Amino acid sequence: MPTLRDATGALCLAGVALSSLARDPAIGTPVYVYDVGAIGLEARRLRAGFEGAAHLVAYAIKANSAGPIVRALASEGCGADVVSGAELILALACGISPDHVVYSGVAKTDDELDRAIGVGPRGIGAIQLESVEEIARVAARAAGKTARVSIRVNPAVDLATMGTHAHIATGHDEAKFGIALQDIPAALAALRSAEHLELVGFASHVGSQASQGGAYVGAARTLFGVVREVRAEHAPRLAFVDTGGGFAIDYGDGPCAAPADIVRTTRVEQRAAGLEDLALYVEPGRSLVAAHGVLLARVLQSKVSPFGREPPLRRWLMIDAGMNDLIRPALYQARHRIVPLELTSREDVAGRVDGDDVGWRVVGPVCESSDDFGVHALPSSPPPFVAILDAGAYGYTMASSYNGRPLASEVFLASGRVIASRRRRPVEEWSLERASLGEP
Ligand code: LLP
Repeated sequence: MPTLRDATGALCLAGVALSSLARDPAIGTPVYVYDVGAIGLEARRLRAGFEGAAHLVAYAIKANSAGPIVRALASEGCGADVVSGAELILALACGISPDHVVYSGVAKTDDELDRAIGVGPRGIGAIQLESVEEIARVAARAAGKTARVSIRVNPAVDLATMGTHAHIATGHDEAKFGIALQDIPAALAALRSAEHLELVGFASHVGSQASQGGAYVGAARTLFGVVREVRAEHAPRLAFVDTGGGFAIDYGDGPCAAPADIVRTTRVEQRAAGLEDLALYVEPGRSLVAAHGVLLARVLQSKVSPFGREPPLRRWLMIDAGMNDLIRPALYQARHRIVPLELTSREDVAGRVDGDDVGWRVVGPVCESSDDFGVHALPSSPPPFVAILDAGAYGYTMASSYNGRPLASEVFLASGRVIASRRRRPVEEWSLERASLGEP
């Protein structure tokens, strides 16, 4: 468990009592807190699954782009999967070699392509081609150089039929991502006539929480089948196969397969397809960071409404973190566990509550009904602070300042101490910056 309670019942991350951070006026809530050491360890565990075979863990920067985290992953030997020029600059600034960057995304600007092609002596590791139409454009930008590219295959695997939310399923026929299986011959033909492009890889990414339904390995098998078929004739200089991200984490619904074990199974498929000479790339985001981040919030208000279908729906707990800070519940009906930062005397330190827990519907301050984190069992006398668990991925990176709420503070921990922090901007700064727009 990434968070633990100490002998006094205080919730701790990386050995630091989170209530001390939440109560610190120099930090303030809402605040994201991360265990950077544990994130590094997560990468090490995943890399062990490759058992010495050639590989790249291309961390999907979009999950969490904070410097301390990306640097920690870089120092564990990870590369990056980027989806914008800004993420590319960030990955390189955090010490990731251009050779270890793959660039996905269906709509890359000319500036972004130029940057990816122009960096270092050989450009980045691979620009992932997401359509047949994109090939001519990338080739034109590469004129005078050689750009390494890979084909992102859309393997026609629909995660939404396997329990994943439709918004995070990306590998099915209706999705905008990747090149459809039937278009692979056209892509290969376009690449043959494109000067300046070197086909070095094939990739797929079927979506997030993919390993839950076993879809990950199924999609990998499809990808390997494509590569085996076309390799000898069309792709003699292939260096890697990339089976994408999407390793699931347990948000409280039950344990998930360890990413390293999924890698082992994927490698069995890779060998069965006769592709063991190629490096295996994976692009995990969530599985490296989600469980090692929490969002701390102050309880501002409680309210017991005289209406509602069930008694739990009548009890509202209003906190100072909202959908602007963590949009996953509003966007994907995602459920994140919410726990008090401290236990009261009526609770024992093992977390067992003395018959005192009630269902509180935890909501944020934003003026939208979807600003709702769901019903959670919390003490009947509301705690001063709560932690929203598993918030390390797609939390801060998807945050906004909607409703005039500046982005949350961030604290980075390792080995029992704060290694970096960033305070939320004062509200006045946000207000005056917006107000001064267009002023002389
Ligand atoms: N590779 C590509 C090409 C991707 O598009 C993504 C995520 C990943 C790798 C990493 O997937 P992961 O290992 O993190 O599942 N905001 C949503 C998730 C959207 C993921 C978008 N692409 C959420 O909060 O669940």
